[in-house]
Amino acid sequence: MQGFEYYTPTKVVFGKDTENRAGELVKEQKGTKVLVHYGTGSVKRSGLLDRVLASLDKEGIPHVELGGAVPNPRLSLVYQGIELCKKEGVDFILAVGGGSAIDSAKAIAYGVRDDGDVWDFYAKIRVPQDALPVGVVLTLAATGSEMSNSSVITNEDGWLKRGCNCDLSRPRFAIMNPELTYTLPEYQTMSGCVDIMMHTLERWFSHEKDTELTDYLAEGVLKTVMHQAKVLLTDPENYEARSEVFWAGSLSHNGLTGCGRAGDWACHQLEHELGGMFDVTHGAGLAAVWGSWARYVYKSDVARFAKLAVDVLGVPYDYADPERTVLEGIEAMEAFFRSIHMPVSISELGVELTDDQIEELAYKCSHMDKRTIGGVQQLDRNDMAEIYRMAR
Ligand code: NZQ
Ligand code: ZN
Repeated sequence: MQGFEYYTPTKVVFGKDTENRAGELVKEQKGTKVLVHYGTGSVKRSGLLDRVLASLDKEGIPHVELGGAVPNPRLSLVYQGIELCKKEGVDFILAVGGGSAIDSAKAIAYGVRDDGDVWDFYAKIRVPQDALPVGVVLTLAATGSEMSNSSVITNEDGWLKRGCNCDLSRPRFAIMNPELTYTLPEYQTMSGCVDIMMHTLERWFSHEKDTELTDYLAEGVLKTVMHQAKVLLTDPENYEARSEVFWAGSLSHNGLTGCGRAGDWACHQLEHELGGMFDVTHGAGLAAVWGSWARYVYKSDVARFAKLAVDVLGVPYDYADPERTVLEGIEAMEAFFRSIHMPVSISELGVELTDDQIEELAYKCSHMDKRTIGGVQQLDRNDMAEIYRMAR
């Protein structure tokens, strides 16, 4: 097991009606003027925004609102949010929504406490030194942003989607009422389930040995999500299933399922470029590239891929031919993705990649040929292009 740091400062308040405690929790964090930041309308339609604002009013906490965080949230709105916060003297940001609203809120939080261009943090030119505190009312089980130190922003100038990881942005609290997720379209629910699985798998695939507890935790997250996703296909208002998936989402990305492991993260990097260029839904994009990535790299760690096949996917171990076990495991994972109506190729995402676009994706993903990605196997720009080609 590798040495590690595990830091999860987020207070989780989980259960029915918990959104009505937003004001109390902001007060606990000493917020005196709040920016309520949200997406493109779902929180208005559901009445959630009104309940959250009423809860702030009840505590006598003044607030301003900014909606419009789209999936793959944009830098231009972040700039608007920073300006608004500075003008209004905001000292706490409350994100109400999914990963996009939360990530946009985190970026605004960095920008308010910085005099330069917030994009520098995403372009890896500078590291954030300070941030406003952020709280979350979560409406989608997927990104784990409610407990993570990550945020991912898309710069419209060049359509670059880039992440910034920094503990300053870990939310102070996350309000999680599973009932808030009942209104999700099936596609978003299932994309979320894939994202949760992928946060777990990205940590699973690297070469460290002897991480027994971490492996069991990871397997638990994977099996729970795979089981409950199927339940939600036919019974989307199943409270228990929604609860399990909601909590799995947080645990999948707060670091717990990766303690002692270096992780891989290649699929996320490959997907982020697809998201930046084609605005695809993050989880669906991950499902579309995972199988091709797995087939490209599995020879670098047959034992680890076989463990996934046997322990998680129920594939019998083939002692005579372990690679067969691996390939059956990859097929089983893709069959699962199909069974929850997720794509297993980029064309199934509705994107028909040209050869030039593949080269552009690989160029951008390699940060203009300046980096490699991956843990189980390091991938350079040519490898990336080959995986996009296989996944096309
Ligand atoms: O914009 P609104 O109207 O709210 O609609 C959203 C959006 O259309 C809708 N939605 C959310 N909750 C709903 C709902 N509709 C009905 N009922 C509800 N309860 O769902 C759509 C998707 O929302 P979004 O927030 O974009 O989804 P998600 O949570 O999957 O976030 C995706 C973004 O997070 C990034 C992704 O790359 C992507 O940009 N990620 C962030 C991470 C992090 N910060 O730790 C890690 C992830 O790996 C990921 O990269
Ligand atoms: Zn993700």
